[in-house]
Amino acid sequence: MSIDPLWDALWINVHLATMDEAAGAGDGYGTIRDGALAVRDGRIAWVGPRRDLPSGWRVVTEHDGRGAWLTPGLIDCHTHLVYAGNRADEFEMRLAGTSYEEIAKAGGGIASTVRATRAASEDDLVAEGAGRLRRLVAEGVTTVEIKSGYGLDTANELKMLRAARRLGKACGVEVKTTFLGAHALPPEFSGRADDYIALVCDEMLPAVADAKLADAVDVFCEHIGFTPAQTERVFDAAKAHGLPVKLHADQLSDLAGAQLAARYRALSADHLEHTSVDSVRAMAEAGTTAVLLPGAFYFLREVQQPPIAMLRHHRVPMALATDCNPGTSPCTSLLLMLNMACTLFRLTPAEALAGATRNAAKALGIEDEVGELAPDLRADLALWDISQPSELAYAFGANPCIGRVTRGRVSAT
Ligand code: NIG
Ligand code: FE
Repeated sequence: MSIDPLWDALWINVHLATMDEAAGAGDGYGTIRDGALAVRDGRIAWVGPRRDLPSGWRVVTEHDGRGAWLTPGLIDCHTHLVYAGNRADEFEMRLAGTSYEEIAKAGGGIASTVRATRAASEDDLVAEGAGRLRRLVAEGVTTVEIKSGYGLDTANELKMLRAARRLGKACGVEVKTTFLGAHALPPEFSGRADDYIALVCDEMLPAVADAKLADAVDVFCEHIGFTPAQTERVFDAAKAHGLPVKLHADQLSDLAGAQLAARYRALSADHLEHTSVDSVRAMAEAGTTAVLLPGAFYFLREVQQPPIAMLRHHRVPMALATDCNPGTSPCTSLLLMLNMACTLFRLTPAEALAGATRNAAKALGIEDEVGELAPDLRADLALWDISQPSELAYAFGANPCIGRVTRGRVSAT
């Protein structure tokens, strides 16, 4: 590593969970006890054991971590956190025995959030989303993906995406936006799903791409969403606009969605409760990341487990996210997802933390930017009052985050 002796900031008296597979103790966390991390121009300039600090360094600001742990800033790689209203009434209906699919077919579900979101102004969406985003940020989150998909017409999808981008600036967090126009069929297209897909491909997606408001394109491929053939049409349009794709795949049934995603070299296939071994193999070959969403699994009282052992066996990177949304995961705690991934899906705590850092970055295609403590990556960090990194998955309902750094600067939690 070449050393420039003048750094902007240096953390010492810290233990590092670098999440860099090549670094540290080989314990799944890339642990470096008594480490040091230097920042220059918003990027990590040096990271390693403190005793190996190169001689002659000078620094503008030195931070004494007092024995805390430093990790990459957490990344929530799948959220729908821009929306209006809530669906507590549907929660009560589901508890009384009505299923998520039945509610959707009766005009509730996603459609009810679409009504509320269409009625809301962009400012309303920013105000409502800010509360949720701040709760994520308080837990050390520095990057969040936010999907559209409750507007379902050009103006309202653009409104959602603009609100998402504004939220990133307002809350000091990197926001990646995903266009999810094909989330549900809006009522005005009832019985005309193919016509709606034509609108998504020919009008909405080009408008979103022109305005540079999306970093990726997603579809809800499901019997209550869109068919594999319709998904392909949207993916073809996304590719034509140079946008990477992701997919809500195999959540409620196996439509071979993950395989379809792999065929399009999707960044990620998400949910995956009903994914088959053939699809897992296809994901492995394509380099598609599996995004696991234990909040939705829990909240829908799902019993079908995603194929964790198979994903592990085929070395498909596993990411974790909140899926923050009003219908299936009204959750604003990524740390709780770490715990649930361990208790419900039997991930190890190290796999869980990798899921909210290194692999979450892969799910967004930004692994060259963030997700590990490694030289040249952006200095997005979280500081924790813990004595070992497994505590992040172990304690639920706790928030040991005591500091957050974005682009090398200490920022509010
Ligand atoms: O990820 N499955 C589709 N989309 C969301 C649910 C959205 C909603 O119910 O509002 C999900 O679970
Ligand atoms: Fe989702």
